[in-house]
Amino acid sequence: MILVTGGAGFIGANFVLDWLGQTDEALLNLDKLTYAGNIDTLRSLDSDPRHLFVQGDIGDAALVAKLLAEHKPRAVVNFAAESHVDRSIHGPEDFIQTNIVGTFHLLEAVRAYWAGLEGEARQNFRMLHVSTDEVYGSLGKDDPAFTETHRYEPNSPYSASKAASDHLVRAYHHTYGLPVLTTNCSNNYGPYHFPEKLIPLMIVNALAGKPLPVYGDGQQIRDWLYVKDHCSAIRRVLEAGTLGDVYNVGGWNEKPNIEIVHAICALLDELRPRTDGASYSTQITYVTDRPGHDRRYAIDASKLQRELGWKPAETFETGIRKTVQWYLENNAWVDNVTSGTYRKWIEKQYT
Ligand code: NAD
Ligand code: TYD
Repeated sequence: MILVTGGAGFIGANFVLDWLGQTDEALLNLDKLTYAGNIDTLRSLDSDPRHLFVQGDIGDAALVAKLLAEHKPRAVVNFAAESHVDRSIHGPEDFIQTNIVGTFHLLEAVRAYWAGLEGEARQNFRMLHVSTDEVYGSLGKDDPAFTETHRYEPNSPYSASKAASDHLVRAYHHTYGLPVLTTNCSNNYGPYHFPEKLIPLMIVNALAGKPLPVYGDGQQIRDWLYVKDHCSAIRRVLEAGTLGDVYNVGGWNEKPNIEIVHAICALLDELRPRTDGASYSTQITYVTDRPGHDRRYAIDASKLQRELGWKPAETFETGIRKTVQWYLENNAWVDNVTSGTYRKWIEKQYT
């Protein structure tokens, strides 16, 4: 079996669902269930014996050691993290605790477990650390896209904490020989995305008749990847990646934020037109920019294609249509995650 951390979050849950949809190999899912973790996403696995869920913290070394000893996974895939840049600006501490200290404790537990393995089990063991393109910092308009050797220049508490975790993972390979793999991926979107991030927030606000808050001039550029393509990239790297290597993952879809928002409005105009006949784009509102806002991210994912034959299956146009359709069909999930503490966050961030 494999151990997945953070498997009740956006990407982790998509990974768990895809994994069990494609293989019979069991999966142990360790998740703290913070505000971003949602066990409802995994309801379809309730009676599936291949999915074992444990609520707990990656920073709880004793718990992780016990789980490793009991279940003897052949791999660990680490998604667990605090992941929202705006929250890291309001309160960085949780980011330091989970992304840095938590990853450190996880690495220590995994190192001790791996040291006790023998023969093929030791040789075949892998730990894959899921990271972000944000560790590379911000690009100018005409700069080439980030390659795996681009220097680290993180600008937000979130990206700095992820950069620190990447360095720890790297050091555990270099110093102790721990068989690690790291992926640095661009912005994901798709089903089960918590509506504090750009794409789901815009869909949910549009449908609720609320303003669509675009930071600054809306010309910041991100590369967007459909979440299931990220999951397939992780599976591929886990299967065939070179130990100690880093793989950039991206969708070859660089777009300014305002274009993303217009694309969502156009799809909603087509699929769920407003009753007054006006376009959802009339709800767009420019708001104060994010402090230290990175201007542009762009990922060069050619190493992953060249060495491991991976490329995304979705274009932005097909992926965003699937995403908007998913949100239109999954009101209950949205209602569930947007109750309670979610409202407090929206109030704090947007008023
Ligand atoms: P998310 O915030 O949706 O989910 C994070 C999950 O981790 C939640 O289920 C949460 O409960 C869990 N978690 C948080 N702290 C924990 C702890 N201490 N112990 C155990 N579980 C804990 O995040 P996401 O968007 O799914 O991102 C997953 C990973 O992918 C993160 O490491 C993130 O940095 C990385 N990443 C995200 C994106 C993106 O666009 N969302 C892009 C590239 C990389
Ligand atoms: P986000 O989804 O938070 O991802 P990240 O900051 O990790 O890239 O934001 C994506 C882009 O959208 C980013 O440039 C900030 C911008 N943005 C807005 O303009 N308005 C919003 O309400 C949010 C949440 C993000």
